[in-house]
Amino acid sequence: MHGVRIAGTGHYVPELVVTNQDLERTLDTSDEWITTRTGMKERRYAPAGIACSDMALAAARVALEHAELEASEIDCFILATVTPDYPFPATACIVAARLGAVGKPAFDIEIACSGFIYGLCLGASFIRSGVFRRVAVIGSEKLSYITDQADRSTAILFGDGAGAAVLERAEVDSFLSCELGADGTNPEMLYIPAGGSRRPIDAQAIAAGDHNVHMLGREIFKSAVNRMVEASKIALERVSLTPGDVTFMLPHQANQRIIDAAARGLDIPSERVLSNVERFGNTSAASIPILLAESVERGLFHEGDLLLFVGFGGGLSWGAIAWRWSELGRRP
Ligand code: UT7
Repeated sequence: MHGVRIAGTGHYVPELVVTNQDLERTLDTSDEWITTRTGMKERRYAPAGIACSDMALAAARVALEHAELEASEIDCFILATVTPDYPFPATACIVAARLGAVGKPAFDIEIACSGFIYGLCLGASFIRSGVFRRVAVIGSEKLSYITDQADRSTAILFGDGAGAAVLERAEVDSFLSCELGADGTNPEMLYIPAGGSRRPIDAQAIAAGDHNVHMLGREIFKSAVNRMVEASKIALERVSLTPGDVTFMLPHQANQRIIDAAARGLDIPSERVLSNVERFGNTSAASIPILLAESVERGLFHEGDLLLFVGFGGGLSWGAIAWRWSELGRRP
């Protein structure tokens, strides 16, 4: 078995900042409600014409530069998104081609807010097993396009952006363990009712707003906290670690209250819990890689730090990864 490490990270967020005050102007809501219920102050929206692949491309370019690698040196591109450029083909194929890596395998994974966790697990496993030497894992979302801007229960939550991590074979193995899960018993807890093979987007669907995200927020809240705590404990236990060993927790940025409750459930002190939900809102599959890239840029991580990636989202789906940060040299 080979070792794997994160060789480079990058992120991209669109310029347009949408503040709680902006939302107050169009919705029956308030800065006070949004801040106390979610911890969010602002989010970013990509303009018309900027799609998932554009943001993914920008984030991937930074990650490649940081890793000091050319796109042609990447063996596989994995892109996590629920807002692809088109229903098909996979947006990852478009990103790889635009990076100049035509011919390399590229595919999307669609597992909502857990997408980056699943992608990181998959990419790391490809490398450990020797299938690939280098894999780019990207999370990119244009959630503003699938959100009903007149629905105050969802419009305040979601934002756009992308994050990327370049993984490569290494002497030391950073990928300690993972725990992934899903429960599709009630997909309608968080979904887009129309536009799939069950129901087309027709005039009726559009009139009902069924081409946009529908969410049972309160029900998901409880489930999110429980699953994140449980998955984290299992992932850590697998390698005889405890939450007390965690240097930094990097949770999916759904809501500051969910993050705080999960951290409390794990007894991880707030100074070890990373968050940027205040500035970017919930960017689904992009939230963890954006947080990761920002933290790397800040120089937060040191050799041997134990990172706990943990996410939860539509499906329902969830996952946690115990990751030992390492910047040790490449394996030839
Ligand atoms: O990305 C992963 C998946 N997503 C999540 O994990 C999201 C999970 N859920 C949440 O984050 C929270 O449930 C929300 C932020 C969505 C909602 O917060 P909440 O504390 O669960 O509020 P609630 O849905 O229980 O609503 C409380 C009240 C309701 O009014 P009544 O029925 O008590 O009169 C809502 O109509 O707040 C009302 N409300 C709002 N008021 C002002 C809902 N949205 C808003 C709003 N502004 N934007």
